[in-house]
Amino acid sequence: MSLSNSPDPAVRLAVVQQDLGNVLHPIVQHKALEARQMVVTRSEGSTIVDADGTEYLDGMAGLWCVNIGYGRGELADVAAEQMRQLSYFPHTAMNVPAAGLAEKINELMGGGYHTYFVNSGSEANEAGFKFARQYQKHEHPGEFRFKTISRYYAYHGTTLATLDAGGMGERKAKFEPYSGDFVHVPPPYCYRCPFGLSYPSCGMACVKAMETAILGEGPESVAEIIVEPVMSGVGVAVPPDEYLPEVEKLCRKYGILLHVDEVINGFGRTGKMFAHQHYGVSPDIIAVAKGISSAYQPIAATVVKNSVFDSFYGEPSENRQVMQVNTYGGHPVAAAVALRNIEILQAENLTERAVEIGAYLLDGLQSLKSHRNVGDVRGKGLLIGVELVKDRATKEQLDPGQIGGIVDLCRDHGVIVGRAGGGRGFGTTITLCPPLVITRAECDRIVETLGQALLALASG
Ligand SMILES: Cc1ncc(COP(=O)(O)O)c(C=O)c1O
Repeated sequence: MSLSNSPDPAVRLAVVQQDLGNVLHPIVQHKALEARQMVVTRSEGSTIVDADGTEYLDGMAGLWCVNIGYGRGELADVAAEQMRQLSYFPHTAMNVPAAGLAEKINELMGGGYHTYFVNSGSEANEAGFKFARQYQKHEHPGEFRFKTISRYYAYHGTTLATLDAGGMGERKAKFEPYSGDFVHVPPPYCYRCPFGLSYPSCGMACVKAMETAILGEGPESVAEIIVEPVMSGVGVAVPPDEYLPEVEKLCRKYGILLHVDEVINGFGRTGKMFAHQHYGVSPDIIAVAKGISSAYQPIAATVVKNSVFDSFYGEPSENRQVMQVNTYGGHPVAAAVALRNIEILQAENLTERAVEIGAYLLDGLQSLKSHRNVGDVRGKGLLIGVELVKDRATKEQLDPGQIGGIVDLCRDHGVIVGRAGGGRGFGTTITLCPPLVITRAECDRIVETLGQALLALASG
């Protein structure tokens, strides 16, 4: 496959200059960007193409989001057609695509849910925090339930409240102080168990610590618990199967809402339509984004159980309605594209494919355990982490420069892999979250390229 449009170095250089002179990029250091430029112009399947004609196999589906793969021209037609019909109107009124998308999401959740539309995963979680607080105000008028219990090393978004909910010290440090409304507990990160224990003899110490936090804070002050079923940002930490059901039990015991972050985990990624469905739990609030449209349009949603929805239902004089609005929520073009994206996901059985290809890729990556720097290989569906260590016995993390070197080397060989961790307390992990359409041959290429990079690391 060749995706390059007769590359023109002069045009590429002009774009680079235009960009560096005018754009402020997220999270990357501009000096690094100057040294390693990438001008992405085209994409197809699991491949993106630089303006200089270089093709890269995208092992991260962009930012963990292009689930159905790149280059689906059909979605451009859906967007164009919808723009001709109705380009926009606020979602205080109804529109056809958003109603259809909400119905589809409800069906995928197994029924019993209503959907509130927003524009990003951060906003979806942020709305979830607010719904939880408002719900508790309605349902427990004598109490003051406002706190969220969350986990260290989690990532839930980039706004102040979602950062606060997250537990990545280095991401948070520059914006302190925070509200103190988010209470953190140790995560089920078994490879580096915060209690130094092993499953199952640990007796789920992390869940016990959660109950201690609830009791210590006072259940009457806790509105909700937020969990990402498979923690992506820490380096793909897959919890023991009983973890989420145990957390749900705590929620029911203390009248706390269960808020599940499916921003990355959702829409087939882990081998079920939603990751919480692996564990048989029934969350009260679910944040979805990314794979909802495979990033063909910016759209996200906060899905609430009907028992939560009912709490917001009443006469206008009761003042129970959702007390927030955002301009683009329920955008008809984004909703139309997202709906078709999900139809493609279903028609092509991409969730089932995540199971099959995910197992194939995981198997291939297991073979890398022959390299002394590979500490752990883990994953669920097509969400995979390869945790790298200096020494398997001590589990000492790589230096940031070493894991950065691996990522750069892979990219130099035309394969994009992600990295997680390297922060305080957690490991250095190569992450893989490719489009669900990735082929076996492409998986082989990822394994081979990562193997070469590991050899280079070992030889110093
Ligand atoms: C688990 C999780 N939740 C929430 C978010 C925030 O989503 P967004 O970047 O769309 O705001 C992310 C982003 O990567 C995420 O990984």
